[in-house]
Amino acid sequence: MRLTYTSDLWWKNAVIYCLDVETFKDGDDDGIGDFRGLTQQIDYLAGLGVTCLWLMPFFPTPNRDDGYDITDFYAVDPRLGTLGDFVEFMRTARDRGLRVIADLVVNHTSNRHPWFLDARSGRDSRYRDWYVWSDEPKPDDPSQIVFPDKEHSIWQFDDQSGQYYLHSFYRHQPDLNVANPEVRDEIARILGFWMELGLSGFRVDAVPFLIQNVHPALGSPHEFLADLRAFMTRRSGGSVLLGEVNVPYDELTGYFGEGLGDQLTLCFDFIGMQRAWLAMARGEAGPLAEALEQRPTPPKDCQWAVFLRNHDELTLDKLTENEREEVFDAFGPEPRMQLYGRGLRRRLPSMFGGDLRRMKMAYSLLFSLPGTPVVFYGEEIGMGENLDAEDRMAVRVPMQWSREGGFSQAEPERDSPGGAFSPGRVNVADQKRDGDSLLRWFQLLIERYRECPELAWGMHTVLDAGHPAVLAHRCDADGATVLAVHNLCDAELEIDLRLDGLESQILTDLLVGGRLEIGGNGGVRIAMSPYGCRWFRASEPEVPPEDASVKSR
Ligand code: GLC
Repeated sequence: MRLTYTSDLWWKNAVIYCLDVETFKDGDDDGIGDFRGLTQQIDYLAGLGVTCLWLMPFFPTPNRDDGYDITDFYAVDPRLGTLGDFVEFMRTARDRGLRVIADLVVNHTSNRHPWFLDARSGRDSRYRDWYVWSDEPKPDDPSQIVFPDKEHSIWQFDDQSGQYYLHSFYRHQPDLNVANPEVRDEIARILGFWMELGLSGFRVDAVPFLIQNVHPALGSPHEFLADLRAFMTRRSGGSVLLGEVNVPYDELTGYFGEGLGDQLTLCFDFIGMQRAWLAMARGEAGPLAEALEQRPTPPKDCQWAVFLRNHDELTLDKLTENEREEVFDAFGPEPRMQLYGRGLRRRLPSMFGGDLRRMKMAYSLLFSLPGTPVVFYGEEIGMGENLDAEDRMAVRVPMQWSREGGFSQAEPERDSPGGAFSPGRVNVADQKRDGDSLLRWFQLLIERYRECPELAWGMHTVLDAGHPAVLAHRCDADGATVLAVHNLCDAELEIDLRLDGLESQILTDLLVGGRLEIGGNGGVRIAMSPYGCRWFRASEPEVPPEDASVKSR
């Protein structure tokens, strides 16, 4: 047996689906989603073909940052259910072969967490050193302020104990002091607790912030990540850390664990994501092709997590001012669509005005890019945002199950988008019955992605497509090849590709059927419709394409 392509490295070609229990499905008719509702929808998720669910925070919280402000790491928010409901959900997910990971938000706690309440009660509190205090903080560097519309400093004076505390995010989210060994032990205990209940890992919130205040005497900040990962691996070899690390590529490699791959298992490709949006705004493949060429190869057994949208604003912070303007002009020209001067509080489908061709192309691109794709709930049916909701909440709207909404029998706590993106127009039930729907397209893409492990495991090469609007890339693994071609513009065109090593082979179209012959010199001409996308498998003329594929085990 070959040691690669084994499914114990399940994260190498997983399909990760991010959802918020609160907005997915209400099971007890109080207008708020919950674990019972989510459990009812597991068959839908399994049928879609996703392999791993990422749950946004579901812990007790005063909800001043939509659950990213936690008051108890060992419990379920009573609005979302009980620990019993959680365990039933986990059992059902496991039964359908779905893995589950959850947000790990341990850079900070809520200021109402009992640890912080105790810590601020006096300088001799048992929990004082669990947070970061200063008599005279250094002046703020404006680039450190994450929410510039709400905060102007990362330090907040605490009247009760007469010192400033550090808060990288909102002032109601005091940073934990991970330099304190007790805090590190507690973090490991949190991981251990949820792993015992069946989680396969965590999406680690705000990683660079988390490790920034590790004290040098306690080793390098990265040792902390390596320690956490080692702890998890001792408990369960198949567990993963998926990191939110929005830093340039050359810094990013350190978060995987330079050369060793002993820290984060997966890192989101924020750079590739931003370059993909620039490419789509211009209708030119160049910016994305460059990112794919610059992107470092992750260490063995690690992987890139590829995404186009998530639960936050579409951050464009790593583009230049002019590039950002280009994306704003194309996809979010109105000031109310923009956030913090650097991002867009919109969902992908509405940014494309609901144009089915463009949505299909964008998601085809997502699934064909080398790595593990991560989708945000509702993308599979083309849900839009509600700009009337406050800042990032615009994209966190209730899942649209039917024309009536179908999220809850009661009045939902949150409003759905109106107009062309209302549940009456965009919903699961209608799309299930429509063979041309985005939902069906998603299912097809997921099926093909899983059948083509080359995309995730292989070596990728960006090819010269001879046309600025076209991204053509091939992924090769163990003599098998998958080719993906995407037309980012609104014109019909033909491209000529050279496929070295595949002379005289056949290309089988994996999305719509049909075959093309590669010439004896490796050349092939491919017709592309406006915003067209095509995936091909190469095979010798006498070999059925299925048999030319690398098999996952
Ligand atoms: C991350 C989350 C974001 C949250 C912040 C603070 O960036 O993605 O939603 O507000 O961390 O926890």
